[in-house]
Amino acid sequence: MKLFIYHTPELTPEDKVPDCAIAVDVLRATTTIATVLAAGAEAVQVFSDLDQLIQVSEAWSADKRLRAGERGGAKVAGFDMGNSPLDCTPERVQGRRLFISTTNGTRALQRVQNAAAVTAAAFINRAAVVKYIMAQQPEILWIVGSGWEGSFSLEDTACAGAIAHSIWQQTELPLAELAGNDEVMGAIALYAQWQNNLLDLFHHASHGKRLLRLDCYEDLKYCAQTDIVDVLPLQQEPGVLKV
Ligand code: MLT
Repeated sequence: MKLFIYHTPELTPEDKVPDCAIAVDVLRATTTIATVLAAGAEAVQVFSDLDQLIQVSEAWSADKRLRAGERGGAKVAGFDMGNSPLDCTPERVQGRRLFISTTNGTRALQRVQNAAAVTAAAFINRAAVVKYIMAQQPEILWIVGSGWEGSFSLEDTACAGAIAHSIWQQTELPLAELAGNDEVMGAIALYAQWQNNLLDLFHHASHGKRLLRLDCYEDLKYCAQTDIVDVLPLQQEPGVLKV
């Protein structure tokens, strides 16, 4: 296995497709995706464009769909919900498909949608994703952070480091053999420094600060938990993830 980490979707090579890609948007899209699937949603379908989301979801009856729209951290007017994982209660989501568009996370998933296998990871489902990777042993694995509008995000790279660290421990390969680019070592070092203080790290992160200004402290606390849901979101068709 060769592991490559990219801090943003824009940094992924355009002429290559990996055997497996893991999209990461800790704050908050991939945390929300893992949560909604753990709570019994039928599937999650991701869109970069809000109008297209509305159009495609029209084909589903109102009791079978939920529309989630987020821009700049805030809920988009007219949508059922924004992007808070705390809104994904079983009562609300069971049996429904979540149609979701977010500023960066859904774009990252779309960027890697042609990989042979695609999954979504956050701290909350890190162990489930690593277990899948260890079983599949993809030859080329990408972990792609969502970042913020093309820029690096601390929390996504720290989560990429958490996944890489766990894979490294379990493969017992020398890091030099496992790592496909320098970002792997950097991400593992970032995670190693903050693994016991992820909530503090989020307070330093620009998007963490943005969410705090929007009164989302409870979201940050939830997203800072590691390995609390045993759920593996797997792409079944481009843009559609199920367990
Ligand atoms: C994104 O896609 O940029 C994020 O998930 C934003 C958010 O916190 O809702």
